[in-house]
Amino acid sequence: MALDGDVVVAAGAIWLSRVHEDRFWLEVVVDPARRRSGIGTALVGHLSTLRSRDLPFMARGYVDDEAMRFADALGARTIQIVPPARAALDLRRELRPHADVQPLAGVDRSHVETAFAAMYRWTHENWSPVRDGFEHALVEGLWDDLDADASAVAVDDSGGILALALTFVDTDPALIVAETTTRDQPGGEHLVEGCIRRAMAILAHRGLTLVDFDGHVSDPHFLPALSRLAPTGRWFRLVEIPAP
Ligand SMILES: CC(C)(COP(=O)(O)OP(=O)(O)OC[C@H]1O[C@@H](n2cnc3c(N)ncnc32)[C@H](O)[C@@H]1OP(=O)(O)O)[C@@H](O)C(=O)NCCC(=O)NCCS
Repeated sequence: MALDGDVVVAAGAIWLSRVHEDRFWLEVVVDPARRRSGIGTALVGHLSTLRSRDLPFMARGYVDDEAMRFADALGARTIQIVPPARAALDLRRELRPHADVQPLAGVDRSHVETAFAAMYRWTHENWSPVRDGFEHALVEGLWDDLDADASAVAVDDSGGILALALTFVDTDPALIVAETTTRDQPGGEHLVEGCIRRAMAILAHRGLTLVDFDGHVSDPHFLPALSRLAPTGRWFRLVEIPAP
């Protein structure tokens, strides 16, 4: 906190995620009446001294957010971009169906959790690697928010999960996360399309019209599928900020 007499003029916090441990998340807020006078920068300097390990900071925001201008002034480097991600369910027919896609409901929960963790690990490994034992934190509460009926998996001949589209219903509209379970999955684009198409179809049959996606520009099978859906919305940046 920053004080002016008894008045709190700014507050900030840093924390390590339970899934990643490569950077400290950084959050700072300054009294609107006191902005642009160096308080935010000074607070980041103080928070830097509170780090338990010598790791840089991480922050996120829409590209046009003032938070990102502040981050840029602190020397931010973009480590990931999240593209516009809202799509009309009607456009699902732009995606190819795939014969190996089946409902997620009925698949052993532990297999789904393992596949999700595998997908999460490789899609983050090049820019924000997971920490050891991240799986537990990743899947905690998963089944509270996941809609198994509106989620889909693509499987091989022995039932192994090759790709998945997980539909989360704790937001409005619902949110789909989709990728293959390994980076080099042959036919990965088609498998992911098929999973997403099925998940979107279930939502559409419920009378819904829109869906959001959560993915990254570096997701090689997801992004081509998303691009076929003419998504709208705002670009989002994840940035690394060097510790001062
Ligand atoms: C972002 C925020 C913390 C900045 O606090 P602040 O005390 O105004 O920051 P500083 O005065 O130290 O600004 C340092 C530099 O950041 C940049 N900057 C900060 N706010 C900016 C804005 N709104 N537009 C453009 N650049 C901005 C400028 O380069 C500024 O230097 P300058 O004033 O000499 O041009 C404050 O605007 C805020 O509380 N916003 C709402 C919460 C938020 O977005 N938090 C960020 C999460 S990390």
